[in-house]
Amino acid sequence: MAAIKRFSPAWFLHHGRNNALVRWLHEDRTLHLVGVPLRAEPVAPPPPDDFRVNARDDLDRFEPTERWHDRAAFLAGAEDSLAEGKLCVTRVIDGQLAFIAWIRPEQDQARFGSVGHTVRFPPHTATHFSVYVHPGHRRKGLFVAGLKAVISVATHHTETRLLLGAVEGGNTPALKGHLAAGFRPVATLTTRTSLGRRRFGADRSADGLAWPLTPAGPGVWDLTAEDDR
Ligand SMILES: CC(C)(COP(=O)(O)OP(=O)(O)OC[C@H]1O[C@@H](n2cnc3c(N)ncnc32)[C@H](O)[C@@H]1OP(=O)(O)O)[C@@H](O)C(=O)NCCC(=O)NCCS
Repeated sequence: MAAIKRFSPAWFLHHGRNNALVRWLHEDRTLHLVGVPLRAEPVAPPPPDDFRVNARDDLDRFEPTERWHDRAAFLAGAEDSLAEGKLCVTRVIDGQLAFIAWIRPEQDQARFGSVGHTVRFPPHTATHFSVYVHPGHRRKGLFVAGLKAVISVATHHTETRLLLGAVEGGNTPALKGHLAAGFRPVATLTTRTSLGRRRFGADRSADGLAWPLTPAGPGVWDLTAEDDR
């Protein structure tokens, strides 16, 4: 983020929003849950050769591009993830790691920390996470192509029946990209904090909703697969 001049209106706005007391007084958060069924629809073609699976030499092309990026931590975290059975989908362009995404197969449930919701999944659910496009390769359709490769890798390398992704509220490019790649909206999870009290909700008003989501407690939901109904 560009530097904000100290004590300017933008500085107060930024620090106000990120202040724990302000967040305790009032905060609205949203997270879009999106998904694609992998066995109920025509099987995705195998991933194109330019996207690779668990390719350590691609990971080695990682360049820090954000303030919080750390090359050693990235490579160590990637080794841990591979050892845990997660799959990594990558594409290198001009010698740079241009696209990366991770797939976590066979996940029973997830707690989405930004909104504090827990979603319990049907059998053979996978999630994808940490999708990133190098800033030098953005706005060229690489995200959408990469997500299609992720769908294809989950189809051909795992027993996944339902592949889920989560997009933070406000990340319009990421939401558009998921829908363009074939993901369908599942729900928008909402959390409203007022004077420290949290109210959880799930907005299911989008068109083309995929699977039913039933409440199982405050901020806890059961997701049912299409063919389990
Ligand atoms: C979000 C991100 C993955 C998009 O990558 P990308 O390769 O530039 O995306 P694409 O070129 O495939 O475009 C996807 C869609 O988003 C739109 N888009 C991309 N960047 C945009 C921007 N900055 N503002 C508005 N729209 C944008 C594109 O026009 C396209 O929409 P369309 O299909 O209607 O034309 C990339 O900006 C990124 O890595 N951001 C940081 C990490 C992140 O947010 N990851 C996603 C987590 S779910």
